[in-house]
Amino acid sequence: MPTTPHTESSPITEETASARQTHFGFRDVQLQEKEKLVRGVFDSVASRYDLMNDLMSAGLHRYWKREMTAWLQPRCHERQLDVAGGTGDIAFRCLEAMKQDATRKQQALTGEVAVCDINPAMLQQGKARAIDRNLLEGLSWHCGNAEKLPFADKHFDSYTIAFGIRNVTDIQQALQEAYRVVKPGGRFACLEFSRVAVAPVRTAYDAYSFRVIPALGQKITGDREAYQYLVESIRRFPPQEDFAQMIEKAGFRRVKWRNFQLGVVALHTAWKV
Ligand SMILES: C[S@@+](CC[C@H](N)C(=O)[O-])C[C@H]1O[C@@H](n2cnc3c(N)ncnc32)[C@H](O)[C@@H]1O
Repeated sequence: MPTTPHTESSPITEETASARQTHFGFRDVQLQEKEKLVRGVFDSVASRYDLMNDLMSAGLHRYWKREMTAWLQPRCHERQLDVAGGTGDIAFRCLEAMKQDATRKQQALTGEVAVCDINPAMLQQGKARAIDRNLLEGLSWHCGNAEKLPFADKHFDSYTIAFGIRNVTDIQQALQEAYRVVKPGGRFACLEFSRVAVAPVRTAYDAYSFRVIPALGQKITGDREAYQYLVESIRRFPPQEDFAQMIEKAGFRRVKWRNFQLGVVALHTAWKV
């Protein structure tokens, strides 16, 4: 597949044009368009994002996020990076776990959770929630792209991304960046909507997704399209096995996954050895 950019001497052929395409939900779009479209989705829903999560998942997203934090076991001296961290859910849980670890060990909290997200509106919501929860120490907020993280090599003990990687234009590049910023011995954890393996359950889940979620999105956020994108983008995301291979291709080892609700969501975990 050609990867060179178009120049005067390389006329756009059908092949090069399709190489520059990706998907935004079920639509094919130009590569450079996707980031802007995704940004539009989260600009539009930022203020109602957390409420919609609770309604859509009947609160289950809290359980999935709790399980990811439990796997990570954040310790009080660690530096953790939460990418596509949005309104801070994962970061808050990890920080709380680090504080508990500090109390248990009777040590000071010296670690930090860095939240990185491409969308300033989502980060703004996160910062406001942190203030409401009195979580002022141990958190930092960064606007940046998962494909080009604004952090030094081998800086973090762990990298998390929850319901974010599906929105990234070049997923393999984001995984390579995850590998770059994690120290040897560090961990990787990714929560994402995934593939339901049991056919009748998948049929029921599809019906719920396409009939209920966009309508609910319209009612709560006034943006049906944003939630239509959500349900479509889930179907475009690679199934568990394929995603595991992509994580391994980025360099991580001991890649595993665990399904929740029969694969509605999967938690992929891995180590940098
Ligand atoms: C569905 S939200 C998930 C937020 C949070 N992690 C959670 O679990 O509630 C997806 C987030 O990914 C962010 N995002 C999308 N593309 C991104 C990219 N290329 N780099 C970093 N963040 C991105 C969006 O701005 C949004 O905040």
